Amino acid sequence: MADWRRAGKTIALVPTMGALHPGHISLVRQAKENADKVVVSIFVNPTQFAPHEDLARYPRDEAGDLAKLSEAEADLVWSPSVDEMYPAVFSTSVKAGSAAADLEGAFRPHHFDGVATVCAKLFNQVTPDVAIFGEKDYQQLAVLRQLVDDLNMPLRLIAAPTVREKDGLALSSRNAYLSEKERAIAPALYATISEAAAQVAAGTPFTVITTDATAHLAEAGFTKVDYVEIRDAATLSAVVSPGKPLRILAAAWLGKTRLIDNIAAASPS
Ligand code: PAF
Repeated sequence: MADWRRAGKTIALVPTMGALHPGHISLVRQAKENADKVVVSIFVNPTQFAPHEDLARYPRDEAGDLAKLSEAEADLVWSPSVDEMYPAVFSTSVKAGSAAADLEGAFRPHHFDGVATVCAKLFNQVTPDVAIFGEKDYQQLAVLRQLVDDLNMPLRLIAAPTVREKDGLALSSRNAYLSEKERAIAPALYATISEAAAQVAAGTPFTVITTDATAHLAEAGFTKVDYVEIRDAATLSAVVSPGKPLRILAAAWLGKTRLIDNIAAASPS
């Protein structure tokens, strides 16, 4: 990295937890368009998983990941061990800001502190000019924008659009957990929030939209709906002003697998 810097090269970082799919590769492509050199980090970050979550069974495929990154022409893969990232003496961490307060934050209380801490470490290790994050984890993006702004971190974050299967399901490493039956139900999440976005544009009251969407997900076969919410797209605040871009965010369970998704929505003009 120091050699690249000396040669005046710009650096893009694509932080990942591995088990790479075409969504991640689209982030690498965006990175290549925005910097001279692309670093991809692969680290399944234990501090963003609660004890009851899926850290132990999180999908891992180191050989497959390296092959995909070589084909995508990433310049460097940074794949530290847990001990390297969190040695026994590790004791400083970042507390995520107000964007972490609810939605995912309500269901995964320490998740965003773990994400903010590991991203701060990765930014310091790699010293990127830009870092690319997918809109699939929309709240994560908002939390990280706050991190970078609030702590004056010298890099720019770039948001990349969600990559979807033909049937609308957002690509996610966690889709690998879905049974055949669950996989058939899963696209209903995107279909439901897309319908909700159409209802927002038509001027339907938000409470009607979110109640209908929740019922629709249950009818489609989701076993539990954590939330369907319509928020200010920039701040994620529940208080929205007329004319401001909106975002519909949802999280729902299919058996043991929790899926999240989101979509842009525009208030009626
Ligand atoms: O989005 C992810 O895969 C992770 O949350 C990230 C940003 C790599 C931090 O561990």
